[in-house]
Amino acid sequence: MKIPALLKFVLLVVIAYLVFKAPALLMGKPIPASLAGVYLFFTVVVILLVMTSTDKGVSELTGPIYRVSFEPGLRPIRNVIVVALPIIAVAITYFSIAGGEVSSVKLRTAHPAPPETFAAYGKRVKTEKLTNPYRALEESDPRVFERAVKDGGKVYFKNCFFCHGAKLDGAGHYARALKNPLPQPFKGQDTIAQLSEAYLFWRITTGGPGLPAESAPWDSSMPAWESILSEDEIWKVILFVYDYTGNRPRSWE
Ligand code: HEC
Repeated sequence: MKIPALLKFVLLVVIAYLVFKAPALLMGKPIPASLAGVYLFFTVVVILLVMTSTDKGVSELTGPIYRVSFEPGLRPIRNVIVVALPIIAVAITYFSIAGGEVSSVKLRTAHPAPPETFAAYGKRVKTEKLTNPYRALEESDPRVFERAVKDGGKVYFKNCFFCHGAKLDGAGHYARALKNPLPQPFKGQDTIAQLSEAYLFWRITTGGPGLPAESAPWDSSMPAWESILSEDEIWKVILFVYDYTGNRPRSWE
């Protein structure tokens, strides 16, 4: 049986599409959509060139389209197509928006629940038991505490302010390039004021890679600082971000 030319064309395009999709479906390593689009475009052009290289090829390919468009007997089919095409276009647009980034931004959990325990600096720590070793100095030795806050400020301006901002408002000069998600502001109510120091320690040591599955889809650029800063430096920078913003860390009670 001879396959009609138009059906052959559609089949070839579908096969080409599947070939470009295969790396994503089989290995989870997609070809970037814009690149796959370019590949598909040139594939379609080549298929069309080959299929229309003779007059016979042209009439075989366009014949059915011509007949559906103009033959009086095929009017019902024509009507169905005229109604269906805009509906399909609307459906494609709708689903590409509904399933895309726009909604995932809203669904993101900004402050996910921390794990019960996590690994940091070669130990497994219980989040609930974790306290800032410098916090007690706030009352017992304010001068030493003050110095620790200052040290924390140095850590902040060496490492964090590019993203989280010189005013700790999340508007660092890299921030504009980091749209989804943005660096978190530390100033204000709905921020670290809602969180404990243990929570911050967890987020700072493990960064974006340490985020739990519930925070997906994440493309967090927040680095895991465990390999860069010492434990001490992290506790001090935590002191600094609370001190500077006038927020108080939340305690477990
Ligand atoms: C390359 C940019 C970048 C740098 C540098 C960076 N962060 Fe972040 N940080 C982010 C982004 C983006 C987020 C939001 C996404 C997330 O929570 O992972 C974030 C989130 C956080 C959070 C979670 C806050 C919350 O409200 O849940 C804390 C705490 C934090 N950063 C502290 C720091 C500290 C301290 C430093 C410096 C030692 C630092 N960050 C350096 C990008 C950065």
